[in-house]
Amino acid sequence: MTAAIVATAFGGPEVLAPTEVEVAGPGIGEVTIEVRAAGVNPSDGKRVAGMFGTDPSKLPLRLGSEVAGMVTAVGPDAVFELGDEVVAYTVAGGWAGAVTARGANVFAKPVGLGWDEAAGLLLVGTTAAHLLEATGVGEGDTVLVHGASGGVGVIAAQLARLRGARVIGTASARGAKVLEALGIEAVRYGDGLLERVRATGSRIDAALDTVGTDEAVDVSLAVADVDRIATIAAFHRESDGIKVLGSGANRGTDVRNAARPQLLELAGRGDLVLPMGPSFPLADAADALRLVMTGHPGGKVVLHP
Ligand SMILES: NC(=O)c1ccc[n+]([C@@H]2O[C@H](COP(=O)([O-])OP(=O)(O)OC[C@H]3O[C@@H](n4cnc5c(N)ncnc54)[C@H](OP(=O)(O)O)[C@@H]3O)[C@@H](O)[C@H]2O)c1
Repeated sequence: MTAAIVATAFGGPEVLAPTEVEVAGPGIGEVTIEVRAAGVNPSDGKRVAGMFGTDPSKLPLRLGSEVAGMVTAVGPDAVFELGDEVVAYTVAGGWAGAVTARGANVFAKPVGLGWDEAAGLLLVGTTAAHLLEATGVGEGDTVLVHGASGGVGVIAAQLARLRGARVIGTASARGAKVLEALGIEAVRYGDGLLERVRATGSRIDAALDTVGTDEAVDVSLAVADVDRIATIAAFHRESDGIKVLGSGANRGTDVRNAARPQLLELAGRGDLVLPMGPSFPLADAADALRLVMTGHPGGKVVLHP
């Protein structure tokens, strides 16, 4: 048995509760991981809120889709050994002291990457990679990234630069400091955003929205070709003809899965940085989720079992 956090009902962070769960023994290719850090994502909050379904038979709902930790048990044909330091995404029920993961979703943790960064990288990183693929970002492009200091945005901005693009990122005053430290041009979001983007003097070849506001979509449509605008959050704007990623025919599962090893390699050698926010003990998962659901977490939030 291990400690875990579950949602006892669909609702806000107050429905989260600590419990004890069985850890499944590893099957073929699988490994059991003693969790050192687990990522907290807006998608966890959306699941708890019932935005992905409210089937009561799913309760109590296990949460947490990404972890970093140490291998403590291996199934037949597993490629890892006891004591290996690994990253796993996706897992089911990563907000726990231990979790068993499919071999295809487990990767060696680069030596140069801390537990927290490793635990928080892959959900946002694979989503960012999908945004770049969907909009064909490449050498010489200028890319507008909405929410560029957020988890997905900050990785998308850096990956775009690694592809040879110029990046203009929208951010708050606090977020702008994060972007400046990474050498990314920032413009403030909010009233007057379109004028500020135009004042950069650059044509915009592609626009990536990680925020989902009408402001982000409207400004994107005003400056970029609709074929090169993608969003991961403005599901209500699909009728504008922009690419809405992460559901239906646009899950991007292959692109996202294929991106995982490269993301870890880039982060391990310091070419990709995930700015971290506060970390919380596992028992305080409700506070962590509350912070993430404000939309202003101040960096990637992780739990420590
Ligand atoms: N469809 C998919 O496959 C998929 C996958 C992953 C995530 N998502 C969704 O994508 C969104 C972002 O996820 P994330 O993990 O990157 O979140 P995050 O780390 O919390 O980042 C959110 C960012 O949005 C910025 N922001 C907040 N309000 C804003 C506004 N009005 N205008 C512009 N920027 C604003 C915040 O900046 P400040 O704090 O500086 O204000 C912050 O940098 C979430 O809705 C998430 O559910 C979708």
